[in-house]
Amino acid sequence: MTQQSFAFTENPDPASSARLNEILAAPGFGEYTTDYVAKVDWSGDGAGSGEWKNARIEPYGPLVLDPAVSVFHYGQEVFEGLKAYRHMDGSVWLFRPEANAQRLRRSARRLALPELPDELFLEAVTSLVRQDSRWIPDGEGTSLYLRPFIIATEKFLGVRPSREALFEVVASPAANYFGTPEPVDIWWSRKYARAGVGGTGAAKCGGNYAASLVPQMEGEAHGCKQVMFTDENRDHAVEELGGMNVFFVLRDGTLVTPALTGTILEGITRMSIIELAQERGHTVEERTITVDEWRRGVESGEISEVFACGTAAVIAPMGRLVYEDGEIPAAAQTNGEVTTWLRSQLTGIQTGRVEDRFGWMQQVI
Ligand code: PLP
Ligand code: COI
Repeated sequence: MTQQSFAFTENPDPASSARLNEILAAPGFGEYTTDYVAKVDWSGDGAGSGEWKNARIEPYGPLVLDPAVSVFHYGQEVFEGLKAYRHMDGSVWLFRPEANAQRLRRSARRLALPELPDELFLEAVTSLVRQDSRWIPDGEGTSLYLRPFIIATEKFLGVRPSREALFEVVASPAANYFGTPEPVDIWWSRKYARAGVGGTGAAKCGGNYAASLVPQMEGEAHGCKQVMFTDENRDHAVEELGGMNVFFVLRDGTLVTPALTGTILEGITRMSIIELAQERGHTVEERTITVDEWRRGVESGEISEVFACGTAAVIAPMGRLVYEDGEIPAAAQTNGEVTTWLRSQLTGIQTGRVEDRFGWMQQVI
């Protein structure tokens, strides 16, 4: 099945207008979910061939799953994150959703899960946004965060790819991920890695995030909001944060970001920043950058800005890099010219204030 309209079951108990207004006035991040979900079932032979069926929009609610299904034991799961934005004229738009659909297929392939056709992904997300449209906030910096995921749902305790799976999308009104535009201090995890060569680092799967939680807690104990991972086998080459990619801005306006080596996530925000910067005439280098180069660059002033980026975080200036026995101070400019320009272009295109000259936005309502 590729194209199919979604069956609809009405929610008998949607959130009241009063409750909704309260939530939308201060949505936070990931705290509240909407009235509906989109779901599609899959069954097949566990080797990639099978059928997607029962596409539906139904009331938000718990899943009932057998405790022996493989997602609970072997972590066969992948997910995505994208946002729907309400523009001034009331219209609603998605940012590059086809890129999320493609990445979900790549992640699924790595986790031996079935690949959802892109059209079905787009239809699920679009149908859910339309159904839950009253949940889309319109305040500055707000959006409806969409979380599509696929889980293995076959009851079987042997280790092999599941022959059944569920694709589901949940939605959550969202404001700033960090709750503040201030620079975010980062913890450099020396002890832990989130991914290794040949592993699942380039896939968006739950296991990568489970592996990041202990170092994340370590970071929080040191006053940091995110953890950074480096590759010990490559002179501590910078990889990425627990949930964001990283950019450095050099004094001459060059942007440097770690190359996609297979161990980091191919961020859609990262890709968009590269296109925006190149259009403006910046040189963008996708290459190895070590912690040592970072330290020397900040000390000498060669590195003038450092920021993190992702769907949830958008573009967030990075403050200090803190580790067990030292720190690298924040770069000279924490909300520098380049960071600020990129953020205003990116959020401007997303919210309709800046012309979408790349054709990134897809109208939903
Ligand atoms: N890296 C990791 C580990 C992430 O979880 C995310 C967030 O999705 C990103 C990078 C940024 O990716 P994107 O810009 O597609 O949201
Ligand atoms: C995103 O930016 O969409 C992420 O997935 C990051 C984090 C919330 C897991």
